[in-house]
Amino acid sequence: MLVREKRLRFAGFEVAIATDSKRAQRIRKSPAYRYFLRPALNLLQRPASNGRHQGGRPDTRSRVTRGGDPAELEGLLSPEAAAVARRVAEIEWYHTIDLPYGLKTPGFVDNRDEVHLYGLPEDMSGMRALDVGTFDGFWALEMERRGASVVATDIGRWSDVDIPLRWREQDPAHLDVPTGAGFRLARELLQSKVERFETSVYDLSPEELGTFDVVVVSDLLQHLRDPQRALEMVYSVTREDGCVIVAEVYNPDLEGFGEVALSQFKAMVNHTWYVHSTATLKLMLNVAGFNPVDEVSRFPLRGGDCHVMAQKVTLKGYPWQRKIREN
Ligand SMILES: C[S@@+](CC[C@H](N)C(=O)[O-])C[C@H]1O[C@@H](n2cnc3c(N)ncnc32)[C@H](O)[C@@H]1O
Repeated sequence: MLVREKRLRFAGFEVAIATDSKRAQRIRKSPAYRYFLRPALNLLQRPASNGRHQGGRPDTRSRVTRGGDPAELEGLLSPEAAAVARRVAEIEWYHTIDLPYGLKTPGFVDNRDEVHLYGLPEDMSGMRALDVGTFDGFWALEMERRGASVVATDIGRWSDVDIPLRWREQDPAHLDVPTGAGFRLARELLQSKVERFETSVYDLSPEELGTFDVVVVSDLLQHLRDPQRALEMVYSVTREDGCVIVAEVYNPDLEGFGEVALSQFKAMVNHTWYVHSTATLKLMLNVAGFNPVDEVSRFPLRGGDCHVMAQKVTLKGYPWQRKIREN
């Protein structure tokens, strides 16, 4: 029975692929859906007005919708492209990633219009870069596209996510699922050389991974029980003349209190431990060893359908030794 359509977009077309009820149920139960997709969906604040998205990418993506018969794929795409599309459709994607044949992954989050807001160096040739908590690899692939040699890290199984011990004890089986299927397929299809290591941010070490010119920590801290320790480990792998780029949601209600660093403890509502103010995030970076910390941008976090989910800030921190050396 068809209960759900999976939408693949290419060259201005949208193709819907039927998903049977068993698979839809499996997806809904998957830790990726429960920890990162559903929380984001719950945050959705749909514009009350006319339902049109506000700003951002012009909505050219659903000009034509082809209905539910997978056989239609064969008619619209070359056999090679159709084979790729079918493999892509097997995975529940977090990131929207451009693929060969004009295909893209049907990711829930579409960062493609936000790349300029992260302050990545335009030309990263000769640099070594690290993407912490890479998921399907959007930021790792972007840094590779800019010429960097890139390492991506993530937890190896969903059981490694920071959740209260009581929850873990209640439902241990459903967590025992490996991560990384999307990353592996994107890497293969894009002939990427990004190396992925299954390492928690808490276990980052220069001995294991070496050190990096640019470290990206994007949309991760909110999901951590101990974001301060995570930033300290990130500091340990950042080169003295390198930088960290932290992109994170912040709570606009906690802004405007000067240097008072406020944070909201979310107690894992929507699988979020804390939402900080920008002052707290800057101070946490300072405590970890990054000083100065510059604000690069503030912008709304949008879901794949362009609705605003939260407010984000991007900060760039530099190891304090550099400042000492330069003074
Ligand atoms: C919300 S997603 C963000 C993905 C990507 N960084 C981005 O900005 O689009 C959170 C990611 O952090 C990863 N993650 C969660 N806990 C982690 C930990 N302790 N160490 C490393 N990665 C972790 C998740 O597996 C997931 O890939």
